[in-house]
Amino acid sequence: MSPDADAGPAIEQRVPLRELNSFGLPAVARALVRVRSDADVRRVLEHPRHGCAGKFVLGGGSNIVFTRDVDALVLKVEVAGRRLVGETPDAWIVEAGAGENWHGFVDWTLAQGWPGLENLALIPGSVGAAPVQNIGAYGVELADRFDSLDAVDLVTGRSVTLDARACRFGYRDSVFKHALSGKSLITRVRLRLPRPWRPVLGYLDLERKVAETGIESPDPRTLFDWVCSIRRAKLPDPALLGNAGSFFKNPVVSPEQCRDIIGRDPEVVHYLLPDGRCKLAAGWLIDACGWKGKTVGRAGVYEKQALVLVNRGGASGAEVLTLARAIQESVYGRFGIRLEPEPVVV
Ligand code: EPU
Repeated sequence: MSPDADAGPAIEQRVPLRELNSFGLPAVARALVRVRSDADVRRVLEHPRHGCAGKFVLGGGSNIVFTRDVDALVLKVEVAGRRLVGETPDAWIVEAGAGENWHGFVDWTLAQGWPGLENLALIPGSVGAAPVQNIGAYGVELADRFDSLDAVDLVTGRSVTLDARACRFGYRDSVFKHALSGKSLITRVRLRLPRPWRPVLGYLDLERKVAETGIESPDPRTLFDWVCSIRRAKLPDPALLGNAGSFFKNPVVSPEQCRDIIGRDPEVVHYLLPDGRCKLAAGWLIDACGWKGKTVGRAGVYEKQALVLVNRGGASGAEVLTLARAIQESVYGRFGIRLEPEPVVV
């Protein structure tokens, strides 16, 4: 082994991050290292040649807003590999490296004959980022298909395995946004895909597809295609127009607050939760305040979905946050609800 290999992967200095975040926001990493294995992470921890104080884990960069340069050492996760690791009468267990592209992985599982992730098609980002915000769409969230994950503790360098309980999944939330934020690097994720497969069709947009096509029992590939076409019609492709998906979480309010809002705005789109509380469609609230299609500076609100903020070209993170704050203020002014950003703001 060469001395260089022993010291770990190369550390790149002053790396532009614009191409590494789906919003296309400008920022520079003081130092960046690409990690392809648990051993790579440990070598970086053992040889702190970079001179940076902290560490910052970067996955696909599709749920992040950079408002400044990053002084911490950026660990760019590039762990590859996809395989079936278990098969029982009631599930397939499939594993992917955290650096794999999420959508590519979903497509591959279907091609192998292991369906179950089709409702989560076309979500931008990497496999490793999926558990961090517990990605979800069209009636399925990652937690519903999760088996376990491997991560490296960034303090001790030890590899650990976490089950669903340890990940503390919530709506667009997990332990990786709280107690383990910045302390852990996910290297591999295992999904549990239930057998026999059953389509999840409850979501309004999918029911519409059933009605339009007359196909009442779509196969997994058909459902995958439907989800892709619904998303393409509503959400901007980050390769063409910078964005980070939904910018705000759908707010959850008390039954009293919900009744009050419905009393004043009977049209408000809302979903009752099992505990009696109510989830409101943030996109509807923002739309009702007249923001759809608006532009402030070089940041804007997407024409077809008010929940998505976009980079109209050359926007800075500060411009995106200025727009986000203006939206939060007008939604608060009209509905008394504080919208919470969904992406990680750096
Ligand atoms: N709506 C409006 N105006 C708008 C946007 C939405 O009136 O500008 C209404 C829609 O007509 C609909 C309701 O609001 O009745 C909800 O909209 P939609 O079905 O498009 O979904 P969403 O609540 O806006 C959530 C997720 C998406 C996910 C979709 C589909 C969050 C924050 N967002 O969006 O996730 O794809 O459901 O399941 O939970 C993401 O997290 O980045 C993301 C895109």
